[in-house]
Amino acid sequence: MPFSSAIASPKLLLQLFISTIYCIFESAFSKLRYWTTGACKGTKSFVSAAGHKLNENNEETATIPTSVNYHFTRKCNYKCGFCFHTAKTSFVLPLEEAKRGLKLLKESGMEKINFSGGEPFLHERGEFLGKLVQYCKQDLQLPSVSIVSNGSMIKEKWFQKYGVYLDILAVSCDSFDEATNQLIGRTQGRKSHLDNLYKICNWCQEYKVAFKINSVINTFNTDEDMTEHINQLNPVRWKVFQCLVIDGENAGESALREAERFVISDQQFQEFLDRHSSVSCLVPESNEKMRNSYLILDEYMRFLDCREGRKDPSKSILDVGVEQAICFSGFDEKMFLKRGGKYVWSKADMKLEW
Ligand SMILES: C[S@@+](CC[C@H](N)C(=O)[O-])C[C@H]1O[C@@H](n2cnc3c(N)ncnc32)[C@H](O)[C@@H]1O
Ligand code: SF4
Repeated sequence: MPFSSAIASPKLLLQLFISTIYCIFESAFSKLRYWTTGACKGTKSFVSAAGHKLNENNEETATIPTSVNYHFTRKCNYKCGFCFHTAKTSFVLPLEEAKRGLKLLKESGMEKINFSGGEPFLHERGEFLGKLVQYCKQDLQLPSVSIVSNGSMIKEKWFQKYGVYLDILAVSCDSFDEATNQLIGRTQGRKSHLDNLYKICNWCQEYKVAFKINSVINTFNTDEDMTEHINQLNPVRWKVFQCLVIDGENAGESALREAERFVISDQQFQEFLDRHSSVSCLVPESNEKMRNSYLILDEYMRFLDCREGRKDPSKSILDVGVEQAICFSGFDEKMFLKRGGKYVWSKADMKLEW
C-alpha cells in the first residue's frame, strides 16, 4: 500500500504504531534473553577444538553452522514423485537480504554453503544463484561453495560467468533409463535428462568445477545396475540416498507429493549398495543418516528441524540471529560427521586431474 494512503487512514496509522511498538519490544526481549541465557545454555561462550561452543563451565552450548544447505527457492520445473522439498511457497528473499543472512552465517562460523531448492537455477534463470555463489566465494571467502541441481536449466554461459566461484556441482540422476526418469517425474516434457547430465559433466571438466551425482533409490530404480554409467561419468562423489519420507512434504494431508509408493526397505537399499560395491566414489545415505545430519535453511532463512519426521521451522536468522535460530534446528553434529559430512570441500584442495 502506498505510504500516502496509509497516512490518510487513521486505522492503518494505529496498526502501524502498534506493530512498531511490538517490534521494538520483541527485539529488546530477544536481546535480553540472549544476554541472560547465553543463547541455548550457559552465559558466555568459547569455541572448543572440536568446533563446539562451550560456556564458562565448559558445557557445550550452541552448534556452529559449519556446513549449511540453503534452499532459497521451493519452485521447480520437475515433478519428482518422491520430492521432500516441495513448492509450498513461491517466496524468494530479495538478493540483499539473502546476502545479509549469508554474512551472518559466515560470522557464526560457516565454512561450507550448498545452494539447493526447489530448482536453484530456475529463479532469474540462474542469475540470482550466480550472484550468491560469487558473493560467497569472492566477498565472504568461503572455503567451499556448492550447488545441487536437477541440471535441466544449466547453460554454458553460466559456467563462463560464475564457474570460477563454484567448487562443486551435484546433479541429481536417479536412473540411466529415460523411461524410468519419466515414471519418477525427473524430467520436463520429453527432454532428455541424461543428455544434460553428460553435457554438464563435460562443462565441469572444462571450467574446473568438481562434478558430483546424487541418486535417490526408490521402487522404480532399486533393481538397476548403474555401474557402467557412473564409471564413465567419473564423479568425485556419488551420493546414494534411500528415499526418505517427510510429513507435510511428501506424506500426509497437507503434502504436495505422495512418496509412499517410492519407499524401499532397508534390505532393498542394501542390495542396491552391494550391487555397486565396486564403485569407489559411492557414498551411501540411509534414512537414519539423512534425517538429522543436514543443517537446512529454508526460503525465509529459518532452520528446519527434521527430528520428528517433519520439517519444523525455527525463527529466521534475519530476525533473531544465527545462534538463537540454530537452537531449534535439530541438527545432529555427530551424525553429520558419521555420514562423512566433512571431507575435502574446496576445489583448491582437490587433486583434480584436469
Ligand atoms: C530437493 S532436491 C533440490 C535440488 C534439485 N532440484 C535436485 O533435484 O537436485 C535436493 C536433493 O534431494 C534429493 N531428494 C529429493 N527428495 C528426496 C527423498 N524423498 N529422499 C531422498 N532424497 C531426496 C534430490 O534427488 C536431490 O539430490
Ligand atoms: S527433487 Fe525433483 S521435484 Fe524436487 S526439487 Fe529436485 S528436481 Fe524438483
